[in-house]
Amino acid sequence: MADDLQGGLIGCGYFARNHLNGWREVEGAGIVSLCDQDQEALGQAASDFGIPEQYTDPQAMLESEDLDFVDVVTQAPSHRFLVELVAASGAHVICQKPFAPTLDDARSMVVACNRAGVKLMVHENFRWQRPMRELYEVVSSGAIGEPFFARVEFRSAWDVYANQPYLATDERFIVYDLGIHLLDLARFFLGEVEQLYARSQRVNPDIRAEDVATIVMDVAGGKTCVVEASYASKLEHEVFPQTLIKIEGERGAAVLGRDYALSVTNEAGTETRAVPPHTFDWSESPGQAIQDGVVSIQRHWVECLRTDAEPETSGSDNLRTLELVFGTYRSAEERSVYRTERSLGSW
Ligand SMILES: NC(=O)c1ccc[n+]([C@@H]2O[C@H](COP(=O)([O-])OP(=O)(O)OC[C@H]3O[C@@H](n4cnc5c(N)ncnc54)[C@H](O)[C@@H]3O)[C@@H](O)[C@H]2O)c1
Repeated sequence: MADDLQGGLIGCGYFARNHLNGWREVEGAGIVSLCDQDQEALGQAASDFGIPEQYTDPQAMLESEDLDFVDVVTQAPSHRFLVELVAASGAHVICQKPFAPTLDDARSMVVACNRAGVKLMVHENFRWQRPMRELYEVVSSGAIGEPFFARVEFRSAWDVYANQPYLATDERFIVYDLGIHLLDLARFFLGEVEQLYARSQRVNPDIRAEDVATIVMDVAGGKTCVVEASYASKLEHEVFPQTLIKIEGERGAAVLGRDYALSVTNEAGTETRAVPPHTFDWSESPGQAIQDGVVSIQRHWVECLRTDAEPETSGSDNLRTLELVFGTYRSAEERSVYRTERSLGSW
């Protein structure tokens, strides 16, 4: 439609296929041009998704196209350059997670977008999966009373290195790549973190960095949250990419269990129902929950642009999730408690 928001997408690699499939589900916006410095990746995505406008240079795309927004789907080291380039062009910008390799880079992008008067959303999609939204509804309805404890668990032995070989060779792995989603979920369900203590391990000898992490967090209001991430867990049930969550409150508990079973226990007893992710004709097992999260966050973005609202996972919101990632590394390395800037009164 003529009044659809016009988007460009930079980075046509592995995960961009989910974005491009997702954009086709979203009313009111479409991707009209693609950019990748790798001609082969660019050509493949352009032909698979029927998008004729192709660029190997982001600046050329921004100068030639009249874009309302740009979806940046590259790896983190390129984010600051690309996000600031897009902001300078006057287009709104979505940036994949991890937002940045350093907090300084992340803050710089937030400032650049604020100065340019454009919206910035980090594509932090786990909280947008349908099972997470259903769990959130239960907790915020008061059905389990005020939460005091949560466990957010992702334990798997899935071969993630097959599609993302860089995960085996990067100097940081599970906290930076996956734990970041779990830390964001912890914030989503319980609130802001005051301090944390973390342990990390490298179990798989064939990779460079940590593939297991355990984080215990003090959350504002006297709550406790345990976050567990592992790609070294050879368990009876391989549940990749399911995140299992238990939240206990003063009246009962809400548990998102295996195969998207949501149980709510309180003085009325226990009720269990299935809350599977939304699926599309392009959804692929077992990644449906991830793909569901992609479509939902894209719809949220369009809604924010249409109504001039702040995205839930805006750049400035994501600084808090990112701080927990770096705080986890520091705590694990120094075997010390990391106190967040919030607890120290810096924000
Ligand atoms: N949210 C999720 O659930 C999820 C899942 C997987 C990956 N990701 C994230 O998505 C991002 C991309 O991951 P991927 O596995 O698709 O990476 P990838 O390496 O397969 O693809 C990135 C593409 O970006 C291109 N690129 C890099 N710098 C560029 C530049 N300056 N200009 C133009 N093109 C450039 C590369 O050529 C490549 O084709 C990562 O940050 C990753 O963490 C998110």
